[in-house]
Amino acid sequence: MKSIERFFSELETSLNNSTFRKLVVSNKKNKDQDIIKVSIRIVELKNGTRLSFNYRYREKDIEKNFSFSNGIKEAGSLLKEMFYDATLFTVKEEIYFTGKGKKGKITTVPASLERKISKEHNRAKKRLIDIEGNIYLKELGILDGKFKIKKNMQDKYRQIEKFVEIADSLIKESGLKSPLKIADMGCGKGYLTFALYDHINNTLSIDVEMEGVELRKEIVDSCNEVAKKARFDKLVFKQGTINDFETGSVDILIALHACDTATDDAIIKGIKSNSGIIICAPCCHKQVRKEMDITKELMPVLKHGILAERGSEILTDGIRALILELHGYKTKVFEFISSHHTAKNIMITAVKSERTPDKEKIMEEIALIKNFFGIKFHYLEEYLR
Ligand SMILES: C[S@@+](CC[C@H](N)C(=O)[O-])C[C@H]1O[C@@H](n2cnc3c(N)ncnc32)[C@H](O)[C@@H]1O
Repeated sequence: MKSIERFFSELETSLNNSTFRKLVVSNKKNKDQDIIKVSIRIVELKNGTRLSFNYRYREKDIEKNFSFSNGIKEAGSLLKEMFYDATLFTVKEEIYFTGKGKKGKITTVPASLERKISKEHNRAKKRLIDIEGNIYLKELGILDGKFKIKKNMQDKYRQIEKFVEIADSLIKESGLKSPLKIADMGCGKGYLTFALYDHINNTLSIDVEMEGVELRKEIVDSCNEVAKKARFDKLVFKQGTINDFETGSVDILIALHACDTATDDAIIKGIKSNSGIIICAPCCHKQVRKEMDITKELMPVLKHGILAERGSEILTDGIRALILELHGYKTKVFEFISSHHTAKNIMITAVKSERTPDKEKIMEEIALIKNFFGIKFHYLEEYLR
């Protein structure tokens, strides 16, 4: 049997015995073709179970649904006319076919994520990060040996899921297209890094290259081990400081809970690399707190240490958002998770906008605020100069 026939026989078997997860047809034959790839999954519609084809073009996505038999024919035509390669993801295996060469070739490897299939159209909405057979969540200690969320990790899981939900909507808002290059600055154990990579790569079917940057070598080594186990080939962790990290150009830059001015270092990298999206959740705000020269009018309120601390948080993050706007970003500042889970729950998101900012006005606003609170030096502003 020819390798292409074997591949289609595997496809039919996986559909018949319900082990099919998804099929991706890629590597276009004619590089000038506008289409990038086609991802096929099962959907349960009112009129029955169908194969849903997502045709990804440079500027748009088109969805079409087929019966199983017509879907198999459509996949056959795509491989004959437009693409060299196809990958069939089943519950147990990943089967790669390439039509390059005289006879074509098939390679089979065990599934990177042993997940049960779901035919529910809306399943992704119910749980953004699938936990069934999720290797990295188990390795990171969020799941137990039976792939259940550990009791003491429920909050962490919710935080991860919320973060992915926010990133997902920002990606859609930004219009950024595949492939995406992402840098996670001060990634720690990589909970968010792994989850975002998984979501973009496996749920959104967008090609992604991701780097996590972290000071502590032992964490970096263990994250790279986990990435290998999960077979996340394009996720790499590097040891170093945010400041020294060479980002090149990135599409999305993340910095969650990086201490004090490390958040500013990350924002600087994001702005300088013209990142389409910047997401940060600041940690402590010591730099501005030390700079604040509280006027006698404000002293009766800010004489209380905690209120001065909160004040410095508001000022630091407010000025950060203004500086991002100055550089052409549309910003939002909000509580991304309930303060019940963590006190460090403020998030700043910035999406590159096509509108030209009114720089003069924003600079005047920043100067007035700084002047009012006696702030002579704001780290982010200074190091962006
Ligand atoms: C509080 S953890 C947050 C980890 C992760 N981003 C999260 O939110 O789950 C902050 C991490 O940033 C790292 N870090 C702090 N300053 C850094 C710097 N300047 N460069 C690189 N990593 C840094 C720390 O070692 C730590 O692991």
